[in-house]
Amino acid sequence: MRMYDIIKKKRDGGELTTEEIDYFIKGVTDGSIPDYQITALLMAIYFRGMSVRETCDLTFAVRDSGEKLDFSAIDGIRVDKHSTGGVGDKTSLVVAPIVASFGVKVAKMSGRGLGHTGGTVDKLEAIDGFRTTLSEEEFIRQVNEIGMAIVGQSRQFAPADKKLYALRDVTATVDSMPLIAASIMGKKLAADDHCIVLDVKTGSGSFMKTVEASRELARLMVDIGKNAGKKMVALITNMDRPLGYAIGNSLEVIEAVQTLNGKGPEDFTEMCMTLAGHMLSLAGKGTPEEGKQMAVAAVADGSALQKLVETVKAQGGDPSLIEHPEKFPAAKYSHVVKSEKSGFIAHVDTEAYGLASLTLGAGRNTAEDRIDFSAGILLTKKTGDHVRAGEELATLFTGNRAAFAPAEQILLSATEITDERPLDEPLVYDIIE
Ligand code: URA
Repeated sequence: MRMYDIIKKKRDGGELTTEEIDYFIKGVTDGSIPDYQITALLMAIYFRGMSVRETCDLTFAVRDSGEKLDFSAIDGIRVDKHSTGGVGDKTSLVVAPIVASFGVKVAKMSGRGLGHTGGTVDKLEAIDGFRTTLSEEEFIRQVNEIGMAIVGQSRQFAPADKKLYALRDVTATVDSMPLIAASIMGKKLAADDHCIVLDVKTGSGSFMKTVEASRELARLMVDIGKNAGKKMVALITNMDRPLGYAIGNSLEVIEAVQTLNGKGPEDFTEMCMTLAGHMLSLAGKGTPEEGKQMAVAAVADGSALQKLVETVKAQGGDPSLIEHPEKFPAAKYSHVVKSEKSGFIAHVDTEAYGLASLTLGAGRNTAEDRIDFSAGILLTKKTGDHVRAGEELATLFTGNRAAFAPAEQILLSATEITDERPLDEPLVYDIIE
């Protein structure tokens, strides 16, 4: 088999065989295919697309490119939730303890921030001492004992995706439906869960900018998961505005804790209860609505918060930060951004909000960058709110004062203010089962 022939076939719109896809992923993983041929095929896939069968084969090849986890030593039903990436999305920190408080197991592998989006692993590392790397034995023991654990992905996990993602990132081939589906599901399927709830974001802060594109991606990923024998559901959710008010690592942990205390922002709380309801439902605990009511109850009686405290303690973090979130180290500098005009916030470019937070130090420009955990943005006003000229829009936090000017500029340019109040957009657009 020759890589040249595989590239030519896809360039001309052909359908690749399972063997050709396996050959490609094997060569990506062992380094025998040079980057220029990998990227040529990625670009051909970008333009020509892939059939569902090809996408399933690509996903399974990515899954099988490295270590596969064996969670059979964990007792009970294991459920995971995966978000396609957003801004202010600290949902895992809330839904995992809710679900675990009902005895459903959450053995979670999470990612770091990617581009303008944040990552759960970075947020957890904002908790002093929290270990996001556990041995397999520690991980399984913890899930059996307290019901949940959240760690980062090891180097051996779906290594083909690491290589492909890095190349897609620099060759303008990230936003391809089959490539995104294979990347996300290849990693999800390498973990050993029974049920997966997908949170497919749509709008200005997500990789998929339209509801139609998100729906198509969701359907594809649900089909792939079902083909692999998993119980699946996907929710198409609104990422045309940040979730909640906090963007940035420790700010988001604090907002997650407030939510587990029943004092979270309305949109974020509703999103968490809905997703937790679907996780509990897939795990056999009733309808999604019944699951949602259970989630509300676990927040009201404090059991979900207690589960997060136990998890933080078990993974070496300082639990007093969860019990008293005001103890999180504050950023060295803060700066209030004021509106330049009066009117309603009609729309925000959520991706730009994520980039403003990254500029303040909450994310990475290169893989080597160190994160400033206390950096980020606390929004005062969100889409639909009225604001007067000179009134506070947001507060910026950073340890690097020079970052205020560019971050403020990005934020102001990304906020569209009009005379008319915009129509309310739903939080959940669709559910794909
Ligand atoms: N998240 C991933 O893991 N991969 C993609 O391609 C996009 C989002």
